[in-house]
Amino acid sequence: MTNHLSDTVTVLEITPNGLRAVRTVPVGDEPRGIAIAPDGSRAYVALGGEDTVVVLDLRTFGTTKRIPVGREPWHLALTPDGRRVAVANVRGASVSVIDTGTGETLHTVRTNGVNLRHVAVSPDARWAYLPFLSERGFPITKENIDRGWIVGSRIARVPLTEAGPREAISLDPRGKAFGDIDGLALSPDGRTIVVTAGGTQEMIVLRQPLRFLAYGGPGDHIDADLLDDPARFRRIPLGGRPLAVRFTADGRRVVVANYLSNALQVVDIESGAVVKTIPLGGPQTPSLARRGEALFHDARRSFGQWYSCATCHVEGHTNGGNFDTFNDKKYNVLKKTLSLRGIAQTAPYTWHGWQKDLRPSIHESMITSMQGPEPSEADVDALTAYFKTLDWLPSPHRNADGTLSVAAQRGEKVFEAKACVTCHAGPTFSSPGIFTVGLESPDDTLKGFNPPSLRNVYSRAPYLHDGRAETLEEVLTEYHRPSQLTGKPDLTPTELKDLVAYLKSL
Ligand code: HEC
Ligand code: HEC
Repeated sequence: MTNHLSDTVTVLEITPNGLRAVRTVPVGDEPRGIAIAPDGSRAYVALGGEDTVVVLDLRTFGTTKRIPVGREPWHLALTPDGRRVAVANVRGASVSVIDTGTGETLHTVRTNGVNLRHVAVSPDARWAYLPFLSERGFPITKENIDRGWIVGSRIARVPLTEAGPREAISLDPRGKAFGDIDGLALSPDGRTIVVTAGGTQEMIVLRQPLRFLAYGGPGDHIDADLLDDPARFRRIPLGGRPLAVRFTADGRRVVVANYLSNALQVVDIESGAVVKTIPLGGPQTPSLARRGEALFHDARRSFGQWYSCATCHVEGHTNGGNFDTFNDKKYNVLKKTLSLRGIAQTAPYTWHGWQKDLRPSIHESMITSMQGPEPSEADVDALTAYFKTLDWLPSPHRNADGTLSVAAQRGEKVFEAKACVTCHAGPTFSSPGIFTVGLESPDDTLKGFNPPSLRNVYSRAPYLHDGRAETLEEVLTEYHRPSQLTGKPDLTPTELKDLVAYLKSL
């Protein structure tokens, strides 16, 4: 199993008396999904922080190969013969199909959507299936949410044997949508697809034939004929926050990892009953912060239950998407989702910095971004407590002992010489002021921008308030040059390289 924040994999042995930890091995930054080769010799691990899949030899416990994939791979799945692996690149919005023999990428399929989650491969090895989110970019009003014009839950299937477009089906019924679909499993015969929806706390059971469409489809809502056919579409309430799901070998049951319930649930597919709950420990009474975490992930707090705070602020960070919220007092202007890491220390809030305090900012998000009901004082207390737990992660671009690389040390000097610290200061690399930096639009209702924190900027692409820059290099040479900001000379190629090394270390 992968230990996401410890950057390690723990190998466990299944013994008659339970599990025994054999070895814990460092593998690289932010390991997420893992798949074991059919002969048990190797494991393939997606390294979210390194845009790489690493091969771990399960006999020697050494890493043998690093295969570059798209940006931020989270989950992956092997074909039954172990010869191909399908990797979902969350930030890259694509699926890489890799030949495990050569380590070559055979083809890359764009998903035209974000929030790619668990991958499963069909028994005939022709398709990889995975949940994703369509992002439509319309202004966030109740009407547009209901039309499926803000976001929508979809299942994609991606061809594995040859290059081709991704095909998809839509899942959301109007008025009672799905939030944050996450886990996906295929029955051993490949006919049943089970998907978990963490935000609406349920499981969806779908049976083939399903109308997967590439061009001209799918629509914004679930196919009407599926909605009327309980043999092909069912929703099973599970509570908590159901995430990963796996079928038992006989295909009759699934096991669901339920994060907020601290439990595994065994569900009978035929009857839809939870036949067994296996508690995994954890406190009996959730803390205030944990209640806030539950609210943050509760899609039922949005209009028609289409999404939660975590849909856009994935894991309290950002999914990199642009949305037309009313948080800038204006519709028809897309803004990039701000990361909430370190949020308790980075007042004022929003890109324009018009929100001075966190509590009103949370309140505003509940009723405008979510178009949901008024939160109670207790709700805001809980979310505030949760926000205090959201911290920056240690940068993988530092030396192993946490010190700066030589290039980053030079970059620190450039940062000072170019007076970046005027606006990006102190441990947060932000400051409370509002500045005009040449990126304003004459249409802006609110003038100027608040400097975003530069901590963890390495994992926040695309950049600037409308996501116009793909890379830090582009930010500093195209849109945010020293000469425009502080009147200092623009960066030489060497200064640019060093400065970017420094920024990535924050
Ligand atoms: C549809 C996507 C979306 C959803 C859902 C969403 N947000 Fe946001 N959030 C954004 C965007 C986009 C911004 C930047 C808006 C701006 O600055 O104009 C933002 C900004 C914020 C900020 C300001 C952050 C900062 O550093 O200044 C806070 C706080 C926040 N959101 C909290 C929440 C909470 C709490 C929820 C759930 C109740 C939520 N958001 C739901 C997209 C979303
Ligand atoms: C006058 C104040 C000011 C100065 C000086 C300044 N910045 Fe900024 N910075 C801002 C503001 C405001 C934004 C947000 C602008 C926007 O998105 O439209 C920003 C955005 C950024 C971003 C994008 C962050 C993100 O999450 O998208 C980076 C990177 C950055 N600055 C780095 C620097 C560096 C490096 C320097 C020195 C060369 C510098 N800044 C100097 C105010 C400043």
